Amino acid sequence: MADRSGTIAAADSEQAVHSMSLIQWPGDLLIGHSAVDDDHRHLVEIINKLAEAHAAGRQSGLIGEILSELADYTAAHFEREERFMERVRYPGIDEHRLNHSQLIGSLSRIIYDFEMGRPVDQPLLDFLRHWLTDHIMRFDKRLAAYTVDQIPTEAEGEALPDPAVA
Ligand SMILES: [Fe+2]
Ligand SMILES: [Fe+2]
Repeated sequence: MADRSGTIAAADSEQAVHSMSLIQWPGDLLIGHSAVDDDHRHLVEIINKLAEAHAAGRQSGLIGEILSELADYTAAHFEREERFMERVRYPGIDEHRLNHSQLIGSLSRIIYDFEMGRPVDQPLLDFLRHWLTDHIMRFDKRLAAYTVDQIPTEAEGEALPDPAVA
């Protein structure tokens, strides 16, 4: 807004930093498979970068770039995970894949709305935080538990084929 001074904007930003609740990595998010965990860490970094850009008062250009980076990396990650599930013949693959497409749908709507002029705000950032962490906690951890159960005697790295090379 035209009447906001730099000082007020900076104070707003500081307050936003305190209230924006960045996703803590790893927190409870590790699933115990290094390739998948690396992907998740990168997704966390992108969402945190979006929160920081929002807190710093950035809009449009940079926010749009971060959103499309999130969409691209999410699509690549889900594809890797789905190939991995096929390889290990994961029985929960349909449900997991369905949740991936719902997540992609939500993200596409967010990006569409952003392009139509809806600014990124705190509720949207909160939504994205849960969008990622709820899926990891509910779906990816179940997948990891299944693959560990399948080959319990092997070392973790051997028990879980690398989805990146699936
Ligand atoms: Fe997943
Ligand atoms: Fe995942």
